[in-house]
Amino acid sequence: MVKKVLVTGGAGYIGSHTVVELFRSGYEPLILDDYRNSEVSVIGRIKQITGKAPEVILGDVCDEDLVNEIFQNHKLSGVIHFAAYKAVGESVEKPLKYYSNNISGLLSILKPICEMGNIPFVFSSSCTVYGEPQGLKEVNEQTPRSIPTSPYGYTKWLGEQIIRDAFLAQKELRLMNLRYFNPIGAHPSGLIGELPIGKPNNLVPFITQTAAGIHKELVIFGNNYPTIDGTCVRDYIHVVDLAEAHVKAIDYLLLQQKGCRETVNIGTGTGTSVLELVNTFKDENKIDLKFSFGPERPGDVIEIFANVNYAKSLLGWTSKNDTRDAVRDAWNWEKSIRNIK
Ligand code: UFG
Repeated sequence: MVKKVLVTGGAGYIGSHTVVELFRSGYEPLILDDYRNSEVSVIGRIKQITGKAPEVILGDVCDEDLVNEIFQNHKLSGVIHFAAYKAVGESVEKPLKYYSNNISGLLSILKPICEMGNIPFVFSSSCTVYGEPQGLKEVNEQTPRSIPTSPYGYTKWLGEQIIRDAFLAQKELRLMNLRYFNPIGAHPSGLIGELPIGKPNNLVPFITQTAAGIHKELVIFGNNYPTIDGTCVRDYIHVVDLAEAHVKAIDYLLLQQKGCRETVNIGTGTGTSVLELVNTFKDENKIDLKFSFGPERPGDVIEIFANVNYAKSLLGWTSKNDTRDAVRDAWNWEKSIRNIK
């Protein structure tokens, strides 16, 4: 029997790529989304890629009655919870919006999971829970979490805590936190990708929009950090690889006879500086990109990248794409939405 997986936020950036990979692996994704940060056209595009249209329930994950109804009406084999706000800067300006949506959404979906007791659950966490690593810049899952630097970060930190406490009280649950590093890129088909609303905060959408002529230049925030070239270092993970990791997470949890709670880094294991990424973008796409160096962005982590050994040993997952693939797919996507030849 085909296994149905509920994907909250399944029309969003990471969600839509995960829906594609779920289909490709023989699952039947069921999307819960209200399109507040995505577009309806994504669903048709998923069908263009996979040949299958996912079933969509239009609604808010914070609506507990709706969520309960979904659990009653569908035989779910797993749940992947993406639906949440994700802009670090906005979370500082509107903290209550972030706490209310991100925490209520998690509680709303976790309650029926706890009631049913045996449905695998995957939570979108973030490397933001590590803060600025002290000493070694390569962090593993045992690296202590630190105090988050934004309300957004706190919602991920607290999300993991809620999941931990739920498990301590109910050991039969099967739960996994995936700590994403920096997701970038788009589907190689050019049919789905990131659709930032307004001026993007993240590096790659800003790069592609600048290359498309929407912004005059990219400002690199700081070039005097103690890193390889003075700019910040991150672990940029291709969104298709990240999507595959979610399928592996569901595969793994479904195989467990007993309850479990796991936390897994999802990155490439390689650190890349902002300047290196900019140069890779220019080189791979044979396009110029105007940039200048500006002041440091408050709250930026200087350098962090993932130790990915646990993802490999537990899930049998490693990333297949590198930053070259990611910037090519990101530019291909930007060109397709702007009709650039
Ligand atoms: N950057 C620039 N110029 C820009 C945009 C970004 O120089 O216009 C730099 C940033 O200073 C940083 C790097 O590019 O050094 C990456 O910045 P992003 O905003 O793309 O990503 P962050 O690493 O700051 O944030 C990401 C996720 C968050 C998550 C965080 C955890 O977007 O959701 O990682 O560290 F919380």
